[in-house]
Amino acid sequence: MRSVLLLSLVSSSLAIQLPFKVPFFQNRFSAEDDDSVHETPRIAIIGAGAAGSSAAFWISKAQERFGVNVEVDVYERSSYIGGRSTTVFPHDDPSFSPVELGASIYVQSNKNMVRAAEAFNLSTKPFDDEEGTFGVWDGEQVIVQSGGGWWDTLKLVWRYGYTSPRRVNSIVSDTVKQFVTLYSPHTPKWDNITGLASSFGWLDLVQTTGADYLVSQGVSRKYTYEIVEASTRVNYAQDIDKIHGLEGVVSMAADKATSIQGGNWKVFEKFLDSSKANVFLNTTVFSISQTSSSSRPWLVTSEKGSTRYKGVIMAAPFHQTGIKLPSALASQIPEQPYVHLHVTLLATTAPHMSTEYLNLPANSKPPSMLLTTWEGARQGSKAPEFNSISYHGKINESEWVVKIFSMEAVSDEWLNKIFDGQITWVYRKEWDSYPVLPPTTEFPPVKLDTGFYYVNAFEPFISTMETETIASRNVVDLLLAEQFRSSICGARISASEHEVHKSDDDSFVFGWDC
Ligand SMILES: Cc1cc2nc3c(=O)[nH]c(=O)nc-3n(C[C@H](O)[C@H](O)[C@H](O)COP(=O)(O)OP(=O)(O)OC[C@H]3O[C@@H](n4cnc5c(N)ncnc54)[C@H](O)[C@@H]3O)c2cc1C
Ligand SMILES: *[C@@H]1O[C@H](CO)[C@@H](O)[C@H](O)[C@H]1NC(C)=O
Ligand SMILES: *[C@@H]1O[C@H](CO)[C@@H](O)[C@H](O)[C@H]1NC(C)=O
Ligand SMILES: *[C@@H]1O[C@H](CO)[C@@H](O)[C@H](O)[C@H]1NC(C)=O
Ligand SMILES: *[C@@H]1O[C@H](CO)[C@@H](O)[C@H](O)[C@H]1NC(C)=O
Repeated sequence: MRSVLLLSLVSSSLAIQLPFKVPFFQNRFSAEDDDSVHETPRIAIIGAGAAGSSAAFWISKAQERFGVNVEVDVYERSSYIGGRSTTVFPHDDPSFSPVELGASIYVQSNKNMVRAAEAFNLSTKPFDDEEGTFGVWDGEQVIVQSGGGWWDTLKLVWRYGYTSPRRVNSIVSDTVKQFVTLYSPHTPKWDNITGLASSFGWLDLVQTTGADYLVSQGVSRKYTYEIVEASTRVNYAQDIDKIHGLEGVVSMAADKATSIQGGNWKVFEKFLDSSKANVFLNTTVFSISQTSSSSRPWLVTSEKGSTRYKGVIMAAPFHQTGIKLPSALASQIPEQPYVHLHVTLLATTAPHMSTEYLNLPANSKPPSMLLTTWEGARQGSKAPEFNSISYHGKINESEWVVKIFSMEAVSDEWLNKIFDGQITWVYRKEWDSYPVLPPTTEFPPVKLDTGFYYVNAFEPFISTMETETIASRNVVDLLLAEQFRSSICGARISASEHEVHKSDDDSFVFGWDC
C-alpha cells in the first residue's frame, strides 16, 4: 500500500515539474524579467544557522523523494556555518577540544538533532559527563548546593520538599509529550503560531509568566523563584517572573542533555553538505525587492550582486539582518528585542571559584556549575553579578575551561577576584542571544508574502536549535506546497496506513522517515 502511495506521489510531482518549458517570447511582457524563465527555479535562504541549514536539508529531501526541480542558494554574512552555534579553542590552540560559544546542548526529545547526529555519524557527549556539582547563588550566598548529576539532584533537595519538583516534572513531561507530536506523521502545518499554541493547549503557558503559571499549578513560590528561575536565567537570561511559561518549562526540560563532539555546528554543516545547496559565506544580503516577474518575483541583492528567486526563506532574526524589504513585508514583523548577552570563556588553573567571593568556608569546594536566582535582589539584597559560571572540564592536568554568562561585560579585575588571579586565557563574546520572551499571544507571521517565508517567527515562541529546525521544516513544507505543489513527505499518510507503519514508534521522525 505504502509504496503504491509513494509512487503515485512521485509521478504526480514529476508531472508537475517536467513540462516546465515556456517559450522565450511569452516571457517578454515584462521588461524586468530576465530570460531565465526556462531555467531551474531557485530558492534563496538567508542565514546558515540551524534554521537556514536545515531549510536547505528539508528542500533536498523533497528533491530526492519527489524530484522537485529547484536550485538553492544559501547566503551567510559571516565566514562560518552555524550562526549562534559556534565553537572556539581554548588558548586559540586547535590541539585543545573546542568549547561552545553559543548554543551548547540539545535534549533527548530534540529528535531532529538526535537523528542528525546518528545519520551523519557525529560523536556526541553527555553534558553532565564529569562529576559536576551544582549550586544556586543569590548574590550573597550559595542557597543550595549538591553533588552528583546536577539535574537529578534537584529532585532530592530538601529545601523544596517533594511536591513542587514533582509538579514541575509532570508539567514538563506533559509539555514534552505534546511537543513530540511535532515529529509524528500527523504534525500540523502552521502559518500562524498562535493557532499552533492554541491547538496544543499552550495558550495559557505563553500568555502567562513562568512564575504565575507554575504557582497557579501548585508549585511553591520558593521552588519557582529559586530553582526554575536558575534555569531560565542560564538558558534565556530572563527571570521567571518576566519570561513566558512555555520557555520556563522548556528551560526545565533538560533530559539527557547532549552536545556534538567538536561542535553542534557540525550538524548544520552536514545539513548543507548533504543538501547540495550553493552556500555563499562572507556574503551579506542587503535588500530583497519584488519584481513583476511571475516565475522569479524576488530580487535578492547581496555583496555578490542581484539574483531573482521563486522563493525566499528568511532564516535569521529579521531586525538583525539589516535587510531592506518592501515595507508591506517589513511592516508585518513586529519589533523583536533580543537579550544582549556577554559570554566569557576562560582557562584557569584555579580548580574552583573563590570561596571568599562566595562567602563559603575556606576549606569548602564551591559547585562546578553555579546558577543564579534574582530572588535575593527582589527581597532587597545584593543582586548576582552574573547569570551563571560553569566549569567545562579540564583542558589538561592543571587547567580548566570556564564559561560565564552575564548581562554586563566582566572586567579582568573581577575575573581575577573570582579565580584567585589564576587566569591563563580569556575570550569575550557578545551575542544577541535569544528573544526577550514576555508573555504574549501574538507572534510574527510565518508567511510574509507569496513565496516569502520567515523561519525565525518561531523564536519568540521557543528559541532553540531544535525548534529552528522544526520551524524550517514547516516553512519548507508551506513553500513547497505553494510554489511546487510538492512537500517534504508527500501526502499525509492516512489513518489506516499509519497503523501499519511506525508512527507510534518513538523512533519515527517526520521529515526523515516520512
Ligand atoms: C550563548 C547562547 C547559548 C545558547 N544556548 C542554547 C542551547 O544550549 N541550546 C539550544 O538549543 N539553543 C541555545 N541557544 C539558542 C540557539 O543558538 C538559537 O536558537 C539557534 O541557534 C538559532 O538558529 P537560527 O539559524 O535561527 O539563527 P542564527 O544561528 O542566528 O543564524 C542566522 C544566520 O543568519 C546570518 N545573517 C544575518 N543577517 C544576514 C544577512 N543580511 N545576510 C546574510 N546572512 C545573514 C547570520 O550571520 C547567522 O549566521 C543559545 C544561544 C546563545 C547565543
Ligand atoms: C571569509 O572571510 C574570511 C576573513 O574575513 C576568510 O578568512 C575566509 O577565507 C573567507 N571565506 C570564504 C569562503 O570566502
Ligand atoms: C563513523 O565515525 C567513526 C569515527 O568517528 C568511524 O570509525 C566510522 O567508520 C564512521 N562510520 C561511517 C558509516 O561513516
Ligand atoms: C491566528 O490564530 C489566532 C487564534 O487561532 C487568531 O485569533 C488570529 O486571528 C490568527 N491570526 C491570523 C493573522 O490569521
Ligand atoms: C596546560 O596548558 C597550558 C596552555 O597550553 C600550558 O601553559 C600548561 O603548561 C599546560 N599544563 C600542563 C600540566 O600540561
